[in-house]
Amino acid sequence: MRIGVLTAGGDCPGLNAVIRSVVHRAVVDRNDEVIGFEDGFKGLLDGRYRRLDIDSVSGILARGGTILGSARLERGRLREACENSEELLERLGLDALIPIGGEGTLTAARMLADAGLPVVGVPKTIDNDISATDRTFGFDTAVTVATEAIDRLKTTAESHQRVMVVEVMGRHAGWIALEAGMAGGAHGICVPERPFQVDDLCKMIEDRFARGKKFAVVCVAEGARPAEGSMPYEKGRIDQYGHERFTGIGNRLAIELEHRLGKEARPVILGHVQRGGTPTAYDRVLATRFGWHAVEAAHRGDFGMMTALRGTEIVMAPLADAVVELKTVPQDRMDETEAVF
Ligand code: F6P
Repeated sequence: MRIGVLTAGGDCPGLNAVIRSVVHRAVVDRNDEVIGFEDGFKGLLDGRYRRLDIDSVSGILARGGTILGSARLERGRLREACENSEELLERLGLDALIPIGGEGTLTAARMLADAGLPVVGVPKTIDNDISATDRTFGFDTAVTVATEAIDRLKTTAESHQRVMVVEVMGRHAGWIALEAGMAGGAHGICVPERPFQVDDLCKMIEDRFARGKKFAVVCVAEGARPAEGSMPYEKGRIDQYGHERFTGIGNRLAIELEHRLGKEARPVILGHVQRGGTPTAYDRVLATRFGWHAVEAAHRGDFGMMTALRGTEIVMAPLADAVVELKTVPQDRMDETEAVF
């Protein structure tokens, strides 16, 4: 069997572990040929690829990023390719294609599968917001990095009697903010799913100071937004889901808190630090399992599907279910901590 693999969209710790696992299962165990397309779908459409053997994936398990490179999707070109899918298949001689990616990549994977390509998807995102799987690899690493940042920021906040506002990733879902906030013991957590009241945050911080605790940490998702009228901001930008988005919410919230509380506040934007570097053991294992099962699915002819985690089992889920709607933080998860505002 000739299997193509590619990584598309934003990078994510664990991508290399999937590539390695695909090669180990396919080349070593099943005597397949594996080719890796460079820079995501761009490489697929341009026919830019290299053969992957056991040596080319040696030593990459713990490495962040992707050895294949990644690129954001050019939808127009992909649509064109779908219209000429037979020509594409013939040119590349593929028996299976394993695209590894998030929401955009899995949507593209579905388009290709609908056009007749033998596609088995593998979900990835640090945001953990893909509905068809309980978890995506990369999330555990992002939460670990953000938790460590909160731990570190607490000691400097306490020394200077400051309010620290830590902005983490998560445009539409607040999973990283919720779990890093819980693990790091942030005093306030703000998620995109629930507009927050700045008054309530101020009251919590004032109460802390009144109790003799001379610092506070607020963990805010990049997509969190203040309740209407709660922060005298200029208007945000309306995104594709009709939600109002405020860029730089961490900076703005820190300024607002400093102004209202009369205490020093500092924003810390963790940004792409959460996506870089070595994956945690959990993410390496999940990524490795996804790679193994993707190869098995290809051999069974389970196309138009993606690997997914259900409980502790890896199952196959239709690509059509992958991105019906994003998996956001439900109310009962927010209720499990008093820190969500
Ligand atoms: O979807 C993953 C993600 O890390 C988001 O949390 C974040 O908003 C976005 O990617 C950043 O993307 P870029 O790398 O294009 O800045």
